[in-house]
Amino acid sequence: MNVNVLEHAADSATRASSAGADSATHVSSRGADSATRAISPGATITLRGVVKSFGEHRVLHGIDLDVDPGTFVAIVGRSGCGKSTLLRLLAGLDRPSNGSIAIDRQTQGWQDVVRLMFQEPRLLPWQRVTSNVEVGLTHARDKRDRRQQAYEALVQVGLDGRGRDWPAVLSGGQKQRVALARALVSHPRLLLLDEPLGALDALTRIEMQGLVESVWQDKGFTAIVVTHDVSEAVALADRILLLDDGKVALDVAVDLPRPRRRGDPRAAAIEGRILERLLRC
Ligand SMILES: Nc1ncnc2c1ncn2[C@@H]1O[C@H](COP(=O)(O)OP(=O)(O)O)[C@@H](O)[C@H]1O
Ligand SMILES: [Mg+2]
Repeated sequence: MNVNVLEHAADSATRASSAGADSATHVSSRGADSATRAISPGATITLRGVVKSFGEHRVLHGIDLDVDPGTFVAIVGRSGCGKSTLLRLLAGLDRPSNGSIAIDRQTQGWQDVVRLMFQEPRLLPWQRVTSNVEVGLTHARDKRDRRQQAYEALVQVGLDGRGRDWPAVLSGGQKQRVALARALVSHPRLLLLDEPLGALDALTRIEMQGLVESVWQDKGFTAIVVTHDVSEAVALADRILLLDDGKVALDVAVDLPRPRRRGDPRAAAIEGRILERLLRC
């Protein structure tokens, strides 16, 4: 196995950075944060005046945001409005041009508790399913422990028994399940999902929404999903943010019981309100 290639793929596919390898220890060594941690396995997010520019092009215009631990947030907005840019900043893959980002009140060294999942599963075709999941483990562990962690993550996503398969024999939905297992295997406190279900057929998409929701309920991490699909946002999120003109233009609480029933008129009303605002973007 080419370890360098694997590490590189792990970095680009799932890891924010290896720079914060000790961040979990670092975080728990602080009184206030260990208290948060004892209450919730989900991270707190605090953004103050976050600006991101690419050359002359200013994409994010000063975002202020507070997210409570364990909240499920959905971000919607027109294509090109900066949704992926914001997720990359939260993952620590890029830095703001101005302003500050704190995860669990830490302004640096938090990347290790964050995982990012994309629309494409980004699996390593020459590695079996189990090894692809192990790529998500950052800390050194012995082989048996790695296998066990990967096995448990595969059980979580309903793929037990598929560990020895090659990615090529899996369906699109199954590949996304492997990508989800790879993101979950390190027990992130913040899971970022950038249009993770966008390439799936309608039925598989609904199944995956249910899976993401049940794993989130079970684990209690903070989740942020970017989606084009407003009904998906209403089905999953506690809170929906609409990005427009580099700012949070709408911040809507979705206070509906779970699991949410499709066709619920209250969900339809929220969806209508967001779509109406989206059309004015
Ligand atoms: N690395 C980059 N260099 C230059 N421009 C970028 C870069 N990343 C994103 N952009 C620009 O920032 C804007 C927002 O992009 P993005 O965050 O990907 O939008 P969204 O995910 O909402 O569709 C786009 O105009 C895009 O071209
Ligand atoms: Mg995007």
